[in-house]
Amino acid sequence: MKINTETIIVDPHPLLRVKSEDVPLPLSPEDLELAHSLMQYVRDSRDPVKAEQEKLKPAVGIAAPQIGINKKIFAVSVDMLDEDDNVETIEYLLVNPKLIAHSKRECALKSGEGCLSIETEYEGLVYRYERVTFKAFDVLQNQEIIIKESDYVGIVLQHEYDHLLGVLFYDRINKTNPWKEKDNATIID
Ligand code: CO
Repeated sequence: MKINTETIIVDPHPLLRVKSEDVPLPLSPEDLELAHSLMQYVRDSRDPVKAEQEKLKPAVGIAAPQIGINKKIFAVSVDMLDEDDNVETIEYLLVNPKLIAHSKRECALKSGEGCLSIETEYEGLVYRYERVTFKAFDVLQNQEIIIKESDYVGIVLQHEYDHLLGVLFYDRINKTNPWKEKDNATIID
């Protein structure tokens, strides 16, 4: 299955608002292919040559509901700089993720969030937990794992997790004061 801009559904498509179903494990060949297609999209979308050739919008994550399949699967691939300024790619290909713990403290990206399935620009701070712990089956590691992430990677995980619940990022923007800063939250550049 090849995912591109044409196969991604956009808001207000009703399937973006559906709660996704648990996926039986071990994965069926069909679900495994779906998972790998999601990861392939995210990886290819950040390759300038492939993105241009195949008309892919750059992304750091995509969830199955975004191609109209309401199953609990999402892919995340984020390039981060380590202490020596080397690029380190952090990737998760998760099935049936569950948010099992989180900090009280929150964080938000200074410039807000975007989404492959949202063409309108919604401005404002999207508050999320600063630190999160997820339990999930990771297809890349072929086992159930506990994930502890924070800040940017934590935000990406929570954004994709929201897709499985039928929640979109702009739902979380303060309607009366979109850029309102909170006391217990860090704003990330
Ligand atoms: Co999204």
